[in-house]
Amino acid sequence: MQVYLNGEYPELTEACVSVEDRGFLFADGIYEVVRCYAGRFFELDRHLARLERSAREIRLGLPLSRDELRLVAQELLRRTGLLDCSLYLQATRGVAPRNHAFPVGVTPTLFAMLQPAPSPDPALAERGGAAVTVPDERWGRCDIKAVGLLPNILAKQKAVEAGAQEAIFIRDGLVTEGSASNVFAVLDGVLWTHPQDRRILGGITREVTLELAREQGVPVREEAITQNMLWQAQELFCTGTVAEFLPVVRLDGQPVGDGRPGPVCRRLAAAFAARHG
Ligand SMILES: Cc1ncc(COP(=O)(O)O)c(C=O)c1O
Repeated sequence: MQVYLNGEYPELTEACVSVEDRGFLFADGIYEVVRCYAGRFFELDRHLARLERSAREIRLGLPLSRDELRLVAQELLRRTGLLDCSLYLQATRGVAPRNHAFPVGVTPTLFAMLQPAPSPDPALAERGGAAVTVPDERWGRCDIKAVGLLPNILAKQKAVEAGAQEAIFIRDGLVTEGSASNVFAVLDGVLWTHPQDRRILGGITREVTLELAREQGVPVREEAITQNMLWQAQELFCTGTVAEFLPVVRLDGQPVGDGRPGPVCRRLAAAFAARHG
């Protein structure tokens, strides 16, 4: 399978990055993941805008413009023949002798690949899944989609070892987000989710979910969910590019609401599926 690396389209097995790449040595880079449904990228422009924002925030000059990135994405589709897949895009500060300060005159590394992405397990959408809560021990700029994901990896592994699908971060008694998703709760018909600030990644699926909720007349409060509210919520669900909609019906081994996916989540998931066709 061909991938994109610094202006070329090598086979995945041939694509090489130096061990001096700052992505490898420092996790000095950013990334994006975009879903492609039936050969069409979902919200590609919003993802590319977020990539540009992440790059700006870490003071990294992307080597390609938004239009050029769009062409790379289309070219990967053409070369791989994939239809239902996800696009992974990563930019790092490039290759240089190891030294914390920015290297001078170095071109960033840009990598992109497609991976087959079957839709999430329909049984999980139907019956719901489980999550565990974990302390949010990440840095103060979770709004940047940075490649350094060690706390997210450790959190997700805790979920896996508990037989759950997602880990939900708690900071100062408040729900921030999931290890790779945003978190929503429904209390008395109102949809709550953490406001978009530096404590969470501004999820594209989160944005679309809020738009769909407003279209459907669901009252929305972009305010943090307290840990206590988790136990009073009628519904809890996570959204993300890969997970799409995960209804959370068990949290830390206890049932959420009546232990089944709730009507708000079901309605929004159906509207989301209709949006991406
Ligand atoms: C920490 C975190 N929060 C939220 C999300 C959801 O973002 P999006 O809907 O753009 O995929 C992700 C996606 O990977 C994530 O890693």
